[in-house]
Amino acid sequence: MMKTVNLSEGLSISAVVQGFWRLGDWKWTTEELVRFMNLCIERGVTSFDTAEIYSGTLCEKQMGEAFAADKTIRGKIQLISKTGIFQEQIGGKTFGYYNTTYNRVVQSCKESLQRLHTDHLDLYLIHREDPCFDPWETAGALKDLKKEGLVKEVGVSNFDPFKFDALNKAMGGELVTNQIEWNPVCFEHFNSGMMDYLTVNRIHPMIWSPLAGGRLFRSEDELCESAMAKIREIAERHGEAPETIIYAWLMYHPVGAVPLSGSNKPERLDLAVRALDVKLEHYEWYEIYTASGQQILR
Ligand SMILES: NC(=O)c1ccc[n+]([C@@H]2O[C@H](COP(=O)([O-])OP(=O)(O)OC[C@H]3O[C@@H](n4cnc5c(N)ncnc54)[C@H](OP(=O)(O)O)[C@@H]3O)[C@@H](O)[C@H]2O)c1
Repeated sequence: MMKTVNLSEGLSISAVVQGFWRLGDWKWTTEELVRFMNLCIERGVTSFDTAEIYSGTLCEKQMGEAFAADKTIRGKIQLISKTGIFQEQIGGKTFGYYNTTYNRVVQSCKESLQRLHTDHLDLYLIHREDPCFDPWETAGALKDLKKEGLVKEVGVSNFDPFKFDALNKAMGGELVTNQIEWNPVCFEHFNSGMMDYLTVNRIHPMIWSPLAGGRLFRSEDELCESAMAKIREIAERHGEAPETIIYAWLMYHPVGAVPLSGSNKPERLDLAVRALDVKLEHYEWYEIYTASGQQILR
């Protein structure tokens, strides 16, 4: 039985989430996508992550086509999407910017629901920090979406502690997650204090690019090489794959992190699920923390 993590009283997600950001690269037919989604569900990985901006809305569209083709899927999963990043044709050029205004957030959500062939999202996130952001206005939109039943819960992604606090204050404390990047070569949220903020407030982060988007395995930079040398050593100690050790490391932390696997291969998803049964030694957590040389213990 897959472990689940309660983000709120009303929403539990699987302890490993499947991400669909790279779906556009997979060049799959709807049948292939349906098959993959069902393989995830069979493994207990029932939470699926997407976003409006992925492949310029095509990711949501393709996922929606899969939900329409196999109507049993939607009822078995928790569906997560995001808004806030926009690309528009302005003066003949593509311009990327952020928009977390009331009207944009509400309209984006409705458009996502249409593309995804569903009447609600289980979790809706503000995708990135918006430097021109009115937390009270954005919170107004998120609250109205919740009130209308179009989204069950709301959260953010890539927020620092100040922006998280600002929106959470305006939301009356209702944000249920911050989806952030963390892996053996990325420590932004340790250095910003976000990890401590989430831990003390008992808010579970979702972790994107847990394997650094595959960069760890391509040995193209020194940070990755150093990190992987130590991770391979620990993997041998445990008789597990390095991937499993990385996932176990992320889930060992008291914050209760929920990693998002981005692979399109069920056998690689299995390596993440296996990590739920791997117990690292306390010292091993620090071995990986310091392995790339970016973090030091003082
Ligand atoms: N909130 C945000 O701003 C944000 C940003 C980025 C991503 N995300 C979410 O997080 C999810 C996961 O991110 P991610 O895709 O970067 O995660 P990831 O799991 O770190 O990276 C997946 C990539 O690594 C490759 N890979 C995995 N194991 C490998 C191995 N042993 N050797 C070589 N390559 C390997 C995969 O290739 P194969 O497919 O061939 O296995 C895939 O291309 C996304 O799908 C998305 O939902 C959110």
